[in-house]
Amino acid sequence: MAIRRVSSKWKKTNVLLRNEDISSYIPLTYIYSWDALESMLKVYPMVYIKPDQGTYGNGVMRVEQLPDQDHVPSEEIPIKYKYLLFHDMTVEILPSLEELHTYITSRIHQQTYLIQQGIVSLQYNNRAFDLRVLTQKSPNHRWASTGMIGRVAAPNKVVTNHHNGGSVHMIDILLSNYMDRMDLFKFERLLHSLGTKVAAQLEKKYPGIKEIGLDVAIDSDLKPWILEVNTLPALFPFKQFIPDKHVYKRIHRYALSYGRFSSKKKASKQA
Ligand SMILES: Nc1ncnc2c1ncn2[C@@H]1O[C@H](COP(=O)(O)OP(=O)(O)O)[C@@H](O)[C@H]1O
Ligand SMILES: [Mg+2]
Repeated sequence: MAIRRVSSKWKKTNVLLRNEDISSYIPLTYIYSWDALESMLKVYPMVYIKPDQGTYGNGVMRVEQLPDQDHVPSEEIPIKYKYLLFHDMTVEILPSLEELHTYITSRIHQQTYLIQQGIVSLQYNNRAFDLRVLTQKSPNHRWASTGMIGRVAAPNKVVTNHHNGGSVHMIDILLSNYMDRMDLFKFERLLHSLGTKVAAQLEKKYPGIKEIGLDVAIDSDLKPWILEVNTLPALFPFKQFIPDKHVYKRIHRYALSYGRFSSKKKASKQA
């Protein structure tokens, strides 16, 4: 049977929200609309806007709401905001929510985009990073989290993806400023178990899934947040960047057993 792939982030998010052990790790997410923009920015001063079926960080935008220092407070309008919109290597400054929405709409055309609570990620050398957790079906048909790496954003980028200049690092190096070895060990165990729970939950709705990659951001309280789940995760970073060669050997063995390398042409892309 071909390996099942699911490209809609919105569909996957809704499947995950049905599981109480997972839902608290998912940032608040809506389909992008004027109402969603307005209500999200009332609660979160920073939000992400991204294509429902995007990959590699393409099309991802970040909005930051800041008080407009030039505004003279009055009774009717005590605070006025301005909006910074980051995308690609640029930042636009929009003076009102209406203009922000017009600008976003012009970029997204008729495609479905999501708006998501922004996570202020931990940093390494002043650049945001997040983690990738790889979870695979083992040859004896159990879910196992088989690898973890960290990804650091390139300068002036709001995404950490490799295709957008992000660099790959070992997670113990990225997290060493934030936790000791014992806490790191516990944290890794938590992420491993999150990976297997997410895989099992998605599999209920999408049988035929064999491998997933969780993108996980960590906030300043060291809480992990699942930004998205990929059903066609890249394997090469685990080969290239993890010095312990046993890690990739196992990843490769599992991938061979479920036919990742033989079923490329047959792979079904759905949803
Ligand atoms: N809600 C968010 N909070 C903080 N960073 C985010 C958020 N959503 C996306 N990002 C950043 O953008 C990158 C790409 O977003 P993602 O949802 O993984 O889409 P893609 O499928 O393009 O990889 C993430 O790896 C992360 O660096
Ligand atoms: Mg991603």
